[in-house]
Amino acid sequence: MLEIGKKESAAASKVIESGNIFRYGANGACAEFEKRYAEFTGAKYVSLTASGTTALTVAMQALGIGPGDEVLVPAHTYMATATAVVATGAIPVIVDIDESIMISPKAIEKAIRKRTKAVIPVHMWGHVCDMKSIMKIARKHKLLVIEDACQCVGGFYEGKAAGTIGDAGCFSFNFFKNMTCGEGGAVIVKKKEHHERLANLIDCCGFFWEGRKSIEAFCAGSTRKSDIEGAILTAQLDRLPGLIKKSRANKKRIIKATAKCGLKQIPLHSLDHECSQMLMFQLETEEQAIKFQTAVSGIRLIQTGRHTFTEWDPILNKIGHIHPLMDPFKMKANEKCRMNYSKDILPKSVDILSRTVAVGTGPKMTADDVKKLIAKIKEAAKSIYS
Ligand SMILES: Cc1ncc(COP(=O)(O)O)c(C=O)c1O
Repeated sequence: MLEIGKKESAAASKVIESGNIFRYGANGACAEFEKRYAEFTGAKYVSLTASGTTALTVAMQALGIGPGDEVLVPAHTYMATATAVVATGAIPVIVDIDESIMISPKAIEKAIRKRTKAVIPVHMWGHVCDMKSIMKIARKHKLLVIEDACQCVGGFYEGKAAGTIGDAGCFSFNFFKNMTCGEGGAVIVKKKEHHERLANLIDCCGFFWEGRKSIEAFCAGSTRKSDIEGAILTAQLDRLPGLIKKSRANKKRIIKATAKCGLKQIPLHSLDHECSQMLMFQLETEEQAIKFQTAVSGIRLIQTGRHTFTEWDPILNKIGHIHPLMDPFKMKANEKCRMNYSKDILPKSVDILSRTVAVGTGPKMTADDVKKLIAKIKEAAKSIYS
């Protein structure tokens, strides 16, 4: 949530006053948002859904991922990336990140086995993955690519919106994201067949109301949004480019002013097109990182809770469902899948995350805030390197 206020309130009120708050009402605010988001990202098909977690789950289901499949996920991502894999019946295989704190293309290639069906590059904290290398590997090994762009709404990579490069892209509009309607998500796909399956997966009955007939209907749940949320999202989308521009300007000032301090930023795969509200500094040792973090009121990525595999209790404990017959970790179809989870499987990732410090730099920072942060960073660097 970068900013929310009168514009969203007016957009929501307009829908409420119309008396049609249902997605299939006269206003069509959800449909309008899907159209606007498709234009913004350059995507062919956009489907609004209840959350980023739902977006990931239904995207994988639409692409045909299920029991017997392994899906590669990075060591650093919100737990939902991995639990969504389990929700489809498949098994997540956790692989290393590299210094960019994104999934390592080398680790992807090393982890591929017969059962590997897909990979989920996660664009963490508004930065984007090395999509060129990932897509090359995926094509070579015929893997599906589901981009988790839940934290990268508004980010681009080589002229393409994050989430539009792979076979599917998933977004979150929860309260903490670059744009929000309280809770929400979206899926982008390229193929009509996948889009039709998504329509059925997101709304088992709406599929009929909309008169879709291109695929045979199957049993599914309902995770559609209301037109109130659709209207809020369109208002949020109007704000997004300006807010990201402000954030980038603040970050550029800080980077320029602290360039000669001896500090290292994480390597970025998309220099001018990220949409992060943070700057990430990578120190050489954990001790240095702790010192730096305290001095600049930052946070080391290893401390961001469920964003690292070591904190994914349901995965580490292999509890995939409350009903044992529905638990992918116990299914016969998954007998040959890798499930070797423990806190010490990926020490390299843990080391990188222990040494990386995130410092908040949102669009709301005033010139004075920026100046103060620059001074703090310089002072901290001096105390570490002198
Ligand atoms: C990387 C990532 N994936 C998935 C999700 C899940 O999104 P939601 O909270 O909307 O379900 C989040 C949410 O924080 C996330 O950060």
